[in-house]
Amino acid sequence: MNYELMHLNTVMASDERLGGLSFVESEKDIPFPIRRIYCIYKTEADMHRGFHSHKRNWQLLYCPYGKIDIVLDDGFTKETVSLDKPQKGLILHPGLWREMIWKKDDSVLCVAASEYYDAKEYIRDYDEFLKYVQKGDGRTSAKG
Ligand code: TYD
Repeated sequence: MNYELMHLNTVMASDERLGGLSFVESEKDIPFPIRRIYCIYKTEADMHRGFHSHKRNWQLLYCPYGKIDIVLDDGFTKETVSLDKPQKGLILHPGLWREMIWKKDDSVLCVAASEYYDAKEYIRDYDEFLKYVQKGDGRTSAKG
């Protein structure tokens, strides 16, 4: 399936009360230039979001606080990745259907995206997604 796990660079303060710091550099740590960032917060356990795929957008997802399951579907198989540590990053290629399931209250989902927001590059209908990947249109194309 077209995704990769990555380890976000992390600096832990020697005194735990001072917290941790994780960071990512565009095109060095991830395979695309970042054109947009967003985050989802004020959340509750059992919340479900997503239910779409992208035609061009590459994304890095990470959860700096809490736990979120990312259910991925490439039209042939499904896999679930749990984002449960601030250092754990998930790179999604275009052409993956995703559902995000919040496992703990107040979990935060951060996303860095390769594209500006464009509603036309989303596929929000699952049957349309299946046709798209079965035609071979969902194969990962050049990024950037
Ligand atoms: P959506 O991508 O559907 O969120 P999720 O997959 O988490 O359910 O976006 C929710 C709404 O926010 C939708 O109306 C589009 C809008 N939106 C923007 O305007 N710009 C953005 O960069 C994003 C991610 C969403």
